[in-house]
Amino acid sequence: MNSFSFYNPVKLIFGKGQLSTLSKELAPFGKKVLVVYGGGSIKKSGLYDKVMAKLAEGGFEVFELAGVEPNPRLSTAKKGIEICKENDVDAVLAVGGGSVIDCSKLIIAGAKYDGDPWDFVTRKAQPQDALPLGTVLTLAATGSEMNAGSVITNEETEEKYGWGSPLSFPKFSILDPEHTFTVPANQTVYGIVDMMSHMFEQYYNNGTNTPVQDEMIEGVLRAVIETAPKLMEDLTSYEHRETILFAGTLGLNNFLQMGYNGDWASHNIEHAVSAIYDIPHAGGLAIIFPEWMRHNVKVNPARFARMATKVFGVNPEGKSDEEVAYEGIDRLVEFWTSIGAPQKLSDYEIGDDRIEDMVDKTLVYGPFGNFNKLQAEDVRSILKAAL
Ligand code: NZQ
Ligand code: ZN
Repeated sequence: MNSFSFYNPVKLIFGKGQLSTLSKELAPFGKKVLVVYGGGSIKKSGLYDKVMAKLAEGGFEVFELAGVEPNPRLSTAKKGIEICKENDVDAVLAVGGGSVIDCSKLIIAGAKYDGDPWDFVTRKAQPQDALPLGTVLTLAATGSEMNAGSVITNEETEEKYGWGSPLSFPKFSILDPEHTFTVPANQTVYGIVDMMSHMFEQYYNNGTNTPVQDEMIEGVLRAVIETAPKLMEDLTSYEHRETILFAGTLGLNNFLQMGYNGDWASHNIEHAVSAIYDIPHAGGLAIIFPEWMRHNVKVNPARFARMATKVFGVNPEGKSDEEVAYEGIDRLVEFWTSIGAPQKLSDYEIGDDRIEDMVDKTLVYGPFGNFNKLQAEDVRSILKAAL
């Protein structure tokens, strides 16, 4: 195992009816609250009214930022920062999926900063202070509700990067599986692909003696694979929504990767694709990740073979590790397509005309990937295989 320190200060409030705790959780942070949300799903589902009723009961003064985009934009975060500064807002409440939460993370840091908030995303500056953030999650996918990460798109420069700081952890996150009942089939699939990808990113590492971590990731992945088809048959099943919601949070709250140094190359490549084409993050991952795997089997065939047998049920008898590994990757693709995920960049009408732009964007901070460092030729080859 690598030496590690684990820090996660997020209070996770999980289960049916937990919205009832909202005013109590927010109260210590002040009275003026900026509520941040997306394109309207919370209005349609009725969650907006419930949140506003709770805030009214608690005597909060409410400001609003609506319209956070999937792949949240810098310009939208700037609007939120302005509202906070002009009105001396005390706290931010994000009600939505990963995009709303990520945008809110930049808002809380930007509200306490005089410069351009893009400085945080590009690592030119580190936040020294931030407003407190609470979240009410509506989509199981990113884990943003229980981590410090935030992914922001600068639409003018077509750049999309992740950033984070100890100050960008939410103070609390309220997760009620019922709040995810209205997530449409396609977004449900994207969420499942995203959380599985987070576990793959962590699993493919060069650590040694990590049987506990390995078993945990394999176990969570098996539970997701078993539940996903049942959930797709019945999108308002409390039980299945509950399982997937919990798995998404565990998938990226750093708990599973203690002692590991995950890879994260596939996420970097995907962010370059969606920076240019604005496709759903996990749509991109469903296409890129299997190609990253095929490209890297030879780095450690036994690791891929272990995943294939323990998670995808491949029978290893009489086969080499490499054969087992490739069979496992084929099963992953089969599974993702069976629930409705895309398979190729052409599914989004993406051709080869901007491959070099994408390659350049992935290499802004140099060769990347902890399991195997990728150079330009590796990225090019993965993207071409994904066409
Ligand atoms: O905008 P609204 O109207 O709310 O609709 C959203 C949006 O269109 C809809 N939705 C959310 N909850 C719903 C719902 N529709 C009906 N009922 C509900 N209960 O779903 C659509 C997608 O929402 P979004 O928040 O964009 O999805 P997700 O949670 O997958 O977040 C994706 C973003 O997170 C970043 C991605 O790059 C992408 O920008 N990531 C953030 C990470 C992190 N902070 O740790 C890690 C991830 O790897 C990822 O990169
Ligand atoms: Zn992701």
